[in-house]
Amino acid sequence: MQTNNRRQLVAGNWKMNGDKTLVKQMQQSLAEASLDNMDVVICPPFPYLELFANTVKLGSQNISQFDSGAHTGEVSVAMLKEFNCHYVIVGHSERRADNNESDAVVALKVEQGLKANLTPILCVGEPEDVRENGTLFDYIAAQLDAVLQQVGIQQFAKMVLAYEPIWAIGTGKTASPTQAQEVHAFIRGYLAKQDTNIAANIVILYGGSVKGSNAQELFSQADVDGGLIGGASLNPEDFLSICQAANQ
Ligand code: 13P
Repeated sequence: MQTNNRRQLVAGNWKMNGDKTLVKQMQQSLAEASLDNMDVVICPPFPYLELFANTVKLGSQNISQFDSGAHTGEVSVAMLKEFNCHYVIVGHSERRADNNESDAVVALKVEQGLKANLTPILCVGEPEDVRENGTLFDYIAAQLDAVLQQVGIQQFAKMVLAYEPIWAIGTGKTASPTQAQEVHAFIRGYLAKQDTNIAANIVILYGGSVKGSNAQELFSQADVDGGLIGGASLNPEDFLSICQAANQ
């Protein structure tokens, strides 16, 4: 097996949740924790980024694919850089569904993030019917292909991936560790066809109903390098227990 330098990463995606009080509580909990063997990222809604300044590594939940201009309601990579953002979630299934973000738009957003030296956390994942009809791997491959064609395999060295099966998001129905590992191994193997070193080193997160009680088993799978956490990232105690599972 190829050696790698992967470090576990846990990213909290607050989605459209949280308030100033939660920012303070989360800052306090993370400040008191000792998490030396892993990385933590918080992706709060845009207005709260500034409040976290210099206390945690930050990610945004979205970016515009454009540099600037007449795009009402959008936020540019340059603005996020001013607020010390290091990561950006791209292609979350909720944005693909709510905002009609196609694979092509997702690929442009990844490119835009990379151009600004932000680390895209590219999300892929299938709806339940795709898993049931046996086309799971084709579906994931097509999502990866759109980005591979846009930016090329070399850029994947500067990215993080997240496998988030749509049927497991916010449902309490977690993928089993075996199901997660199977898809993570597929993703790594798919990238390895183009570059074995990049494939061996890319961090692949699992997302979908991760909790303190299931994190350790999921994160101990060979190709699972941490998690992208929704609901449980809104409770400092739960989030900390997930981070501790990754810290071991
Ligand atoms: P839940 O952890 O609430 O299932 O959400 C997962 C997710 O969508 C993270 O981006």
